[in-house]
Amino acid sequence: MSPKHFLNYEGFSKETLVSIIDRGLELKSLNQLPKSLENKSLGLIFEKPSTRTRISFEIGMQKLGGNSIFLSSSDLQISRGEPISDTAKVLSSMLNAVVIRTANHELLEIFSQNSSIPVINGLSDLYHPCQILADLMTYKEFNGNLDISKVAWIGDSNNVCNSYIEAAKLFDFNLSIYCPKGHEPNAKVMKSQQNNVFLSKSKENALEGAKIVTTDVWTSMHSENQSTETSRKFNGYSVDPSCMELAHKEAIFLHCLPAHRGEEVSIDMLDHVSSKVWDQAENRLHVQQALLENLLLS
Ligand code: CP
Ligand code: NVA
Repeated sequence: MSPKHFLNYEGFSKETLVSIIDRGLELKSLNQLPKSLENKSLGLIFEKPSTRTRISFEIGMQKLGGNSIFLSSSDLQISRGEPISDTAKVLSSMLNAVVIRTANHELLEIFSQNSSIPVINGLSDLYHPCQILADLMTYKEFNGNLDISKVAWIGDSNNVCNSYIEAAKLFDFNLSIYCPKGHEPNAKVMKSQQNNVFLSKSKENALEGAKIVTTDVWTSMHSENQSTETSRKFNGYSVDPSCMELAHKEAIFLHCLPAHRGEEVSIDMLDHVSSKVWDQAENRLHVQQALLENLLLS
């Protein structure tokens, strides 16, 4: 049987993702965690820096009785030209699952096509599916439901935004994106979605009635050579406490982190009363433990 890969939400039903989110909430509430992943080994291949993703997966495995090995891609023979397909076959014989962080989503696809173990996208230039699982878990933690109805995305329509686009269809909420010209969502990702993603003409319009207000850095890791002109373009696209006044009265603010205070968020935004960013970051741990259980045990 071919393994389940988690490269984006394609092939995952709302029901499955909700069960992962609920299991994440359950694991968070337990004083004593089960040793559900005993004797399971997780590899992490990262081409890019990471704080949350790496630590949450490594510690998440350890706490469920499993183990992990971190592999900077520059330490692997991939860096000397060994084909990704060969690496996938070899790692499949030694590990139970692998998390990959890459600037090239195609690498994830090639790896997974040649892998007999589950492959998890730990962030690519196209998607960050683990992040939005944690975002949804955080919403449910504070609201008791996933009746989100509307999300406002302000800023660069990047990989994190693309995962929101996928989630909008699956979880049936409207996603209003307010972004500068030239920073619209990936056309292919947009095309694969139905009618619940909108490009807003004003920040006010995007924020009106939103139950989640969210943003991310203006320059992602795979596009760090963007010019200084980028910051100029983003003038007016930052989130500050006044934005929350325009959103739903119980709206929460989320940011995947790391954040650049004074750019996409004001200096005080992460500590605003509506901000759940620290819970959101912690929830990466719990929801990814639930994801690992889903991929490895079912
Ligand atoms: N949000 C997120 O993925 O953070 P890291 O880059 O620190 O893993
Ligand atoms: N969009 C950001 C997310 C970091 C977690 C990046 O890709 O750098």
